[in-house]
Amino acid sequence: MIELKNIKKTYKTGALEYTALKNINLVVNQNDYIALMGTSGSGKSTLMNLLGALDTPTSGSYTLRGKSVDQLNLYSRT
Ligand SMILES: Nc1ncnc2c1ncn2[C@@H]1O[C@H](COP(=O)(O)OP(=O)(O)OP(=O)(O)O)[C@@H](O)[C@H]1O
Ligand SMILES: [Mg+2]
Repeated sequence: MIELKNIKKTYKTGALEYTALKNINLVVNQNDYIALMGTSGSGKSTLMNLLGALDTPTSGSYTLRGKSVDQLNLYSRT
């Protein structure tokens, strides 16, 4: 249902760059029940923002129900 491949997220603040997610691969199938755990600053919210399509990854692919989230638009969302 959800498939992340080699997801990377780099935040750029002025001249500063910080890679919050590096090489994330994840598959979540229907009815899976998962927990996202990690220390403060490990990137949990960053990952959730990507999964909710509130933010976009710097690189890598996010496939939701077989469709690339990059290519979803308001009219094709079902
Ligand atoms: N908008 C942003 N601009 C720059 N850096 C950011 C931004 N959001 C998060 N970061 C940095 O990315 C890293 C991961 O942050 P994130 O908020 O995803 O962690 P978290 O696991 O949710 O932490 P917490 O448990 O404290 O909520 C941190 O080093 C944080 O400072
Ligand atoms: Mg958080």
